[in-house]
Amino acid sequence: MPPIARPRGTNDLLPPDSALRAWVLDTHRQVAEAHGYELIDTPVFEATELYERGTGAGTDVVEKEMFSFTDRGGRGLTLRPEGTPGLLRAVLAAHLDQERRPVRVHFAGPMFRYARPQAGRYHEFWQVDIEAIGERSPALDAEVIEVAWRFYEALRVTGLSLQVNTLGDLDDRLRYRSALVAYYTPLQDRLCADCRRRLGVNPLRLLDCKRDAGLVAGAPEIGPSLSLESRSFFAQVTGFLDAAGIPFRLNPRLVRGLDYYAHTTFELWHESLQGAQNAVGGGGRYDGLAEVLGFPPTPGTGYALGVERTLAVCREQGLGPEPTRDRVVVLSIAEADRRAAAAVARALRGAGIAAVLDISDRRLDRRLSVAARQGARAAVMVGEEEAARGTATWKDLDTGRQQTAEVAEVAVALRRLLAGQ
Ligand code: HAM
Repeated sequence: MPPIARPRGTNDLLPPDSALRAWVLDTHRQVAEAHGYELIDTPVFEATELYERGTGAGTDVVEKEMFSFTDRGGRGLTLRPEGTPGLLRAVLAAHLDQERRPVRVHFAGPMFRYARPQAGRYHEFWQVDIEAIGERSPALDAEVIEVAWRFYEALRVTGLSLQVNTLGDLDDRLRYRSALVAYYTPLQDRLCADCRRRLGVNPLRLLDCKRDAGLVAGAPEIGPSLSLESRSFFAQVTGFLDAAGIPFRLNPRLVRGLDYYAHTTFELWHESLQGAQNAVGGGGRYDGLAEVLGFPPTPGTGYALGVERTLAVCREQGLGPEPTRDRVVVLSIAEADRRAAAAVARALRGAGIAAVLDISDRRLDRRLSVAARQGARAAVMVGEEEAARGTATWKDLDTGRQQTAEVAEVAVALRRLLAGQ
């Protein structure tokens, strides 16, 4: 019988990569919390309607990529393809925005999209996300972008390009829609099948088409469709970015794939990621989303960053957590000493030291060199004599210095050693 394989488009997270992801998630949490964002978590599945209405029925995500199912009670549910509608639902249902505005939340978790798997594009992937809900301020758009920027700075990632655009308000977009329809309608015969259909439903999405890139290049830009107020809002966002020293590129073609955006949109691209999958993250303002979900009108802005793509960039640039040597290995010399060795390890852990038990019966010198390679700073050996006397022999794996003492004394010495004193 062939072994059962991992489902298509999924990844196993294995050591040592698991430490890399933990470092990335931890760094994001620290940076977000340093800006006042608080942890939030929501269900992995939601009512399908949340995404049909929120993310938008005409988007690729909703049309083609959802993992939807009917539960035993006949309810339509979907594994979340993105976090924003669920996070907004949770914040508004709990009325958090009535206590303080904006509500600043951060989040990390798995998302599910049934897109054709390829490098950087999976059926299950992780996002880190922040949302600032309840205020319609250009300063908040800039803050959200800055958090993403500082996060990648904290990881020491280089080579990012920040693309920003504005989609204006609803009236601006209606004007822009008409301009796009006027441009594309005479060219219909040259459009791919997808775009011909989108022209009637969501003409902004035509700007995302890779197949019709030649036509996209000639399409009108949103600038002339923007009201004075929308222009001024966007000028303030870019002004805040300038003041924060964050370099960006104005990209009038950046429409993003989800329906709820208004005003500011942005993406972070990385040069090492390929083609259509070159965005490590993106986000923007979604002032109309709350109403679409049945809540009172509430503005919001936020981003999501792809964790697997971020990990790929970190791997490529050799970035990761500082290697730590913050534990010891406890070895029994012979099988008869195993209980005593386990008791020593237990006592060391009780004294706050991470202690890994080695119960193999390979040669001692081999075991010591494996322990050093696996990041142990010291080895603690328990043989017949130590077991009888309640002592242990510890060895500094860097200097080779070795000492026998009572277990409590060994703990004190090891704590000092691990603290680098
Ligand atoms: P998004 O652009 O759809 O935005 O996704 C954000 C990031 O998730 C992408 O830039 C990419 O790094 C990663 N990602 C998306 N799909 C996949 C996939 N199939 N495999 C691997 N990584 C993927 C959103 O999801 C919005 N909710 C962002 C937002 C938050 N807007 C406002 N607030």
